[in-house]
Amino acid sequence: MYTLPKLDDFSPAALDRAVAALIAAAETESSAVTNDAEFKIFRDHWMARKNGILTQVNDLWLKAAPKEAKKDVGARVNALKTAVEEIVAAAEKRITAGPSLESQRIDVTLPGIKRPLGAEHPIIRTKNEIVRIFQRMGYSVAEGPEIETDYYNFESLNFPPNHPARDTQDTIFIAGQENKPQRDRLLLRTHTSPVQIRTMEKQRPPVRVVIPGKVHRNDAADASHSPIFHQVEGLAVDTNITFSDLKGTLDHAMKELFGSDVKTRFYPSFFPFTEPSADVQISCFKCGGTGKLNATEGCRLCKYSGWIELLGCGMVDPNVFGFVESNGYDPKTISGFAFGMGVDRIAMLKYGIDDIQLFYHGDVRFLEQFA
Ligand code: PHE
Repeated sequence: MYTLPKLDDFSPAALDRAVAALIAAAETESSAVTNDAEFKIFRDHWMARKNGILTQVNDLWLKAAPKEAKKDVGARVNALKTAVEEIVAAAEKRITAGPSLESQRIDVTLPGIKRPLGAEHPIIRTKNEIVRIFQRMGYSVAEGPEIETDYYNFESLNFPPNHPARDTQDTIFIAGQENKPQRDRLLLRTHTSPVQIRTMEKQRPPVRVVIPGKVHRNDAADASHSPIFHQVEGLAVDTNITFSDLKGTLDHAMKELFGSDVKTRFYPSFFPFTEPSADVQISCFKCGGTGKLNATEGCRLCKYSGWIELLGCGMVDPNVFGFVESNGYDPKTISGFAFGMGVDRIAMLKYGIDDIQLFYHGDVRFLEQFA
């Protein structure tokens, strides 16, 4: 807060400087006033009869002035009082008036702010589409954790410790777990299959479930690999489930996804948790399974073969049921099938996208094409 200086020099120039400093201080203090309580302090500091700045001006400046300067000082003091009174009155008006009409004016003719509508990401859309196909066949939906234990991701799926099949799934382990038993070690799940076991631990047969989710592998990113991708897993367990149920179910699902013209073919394969196992191929929907677009041009989409490999599947291995046998899964009385498909790859095929990385760059120019 401003304190009034004593004056030694009563020359007109010195007086002008002192007056200017005083008025500048009053204005600065006035602009800091935001409410009634602050205003009262401000007003009293400058105008209180006893010891306000204006009263002090009388004593320190006017009465102290030498005779010859009295007239000059008197004129300035009068002007300065008026100025301070005006500054105080303006501050009072400002805090009691509220916002001015001008500041509340709305120009209804100005264009509005257009907020772009979001859209479902093509991965999520494809995932939902796959899930809905199975829901229509009576499947329910389950999910599981992305951070898994070695037990659920491998051991209970019949990957024995140190089994070479683990190498095909470049696993990202969480560091610093050397002291834990192997089955308790945490990793980023490499597939959605651990949720097969988690589901069977919770639910007695019969089971029909699809499991969508994100999975992780230590793959270098390129046009067809991403260290993060998505799968939809399926599991059906009941009495008398056969390989033809598996074939019929997946054939129907592929026709729903890619059109009723596509054919499916089952190719022998290997997964530790299914026996027998198969890879499913669909006839190429671009060239109609011929491998040729016309007399001279081959079909690059199916690598000229007429078939596109799409998912893994098989009959649930009895050893897998062995891990949940106490919950009603006796491999002598029940059987089941399982399948797992890559959502990213299916989305790429459906939408004609040639680089998986586009899904993860978050570039709106790519994404808004799906809006
Ligand atoms: N989990 C397997 C994979 O990620 C796919 C699969 C699921 C195969 C279910 C068979 C049965 O490669």
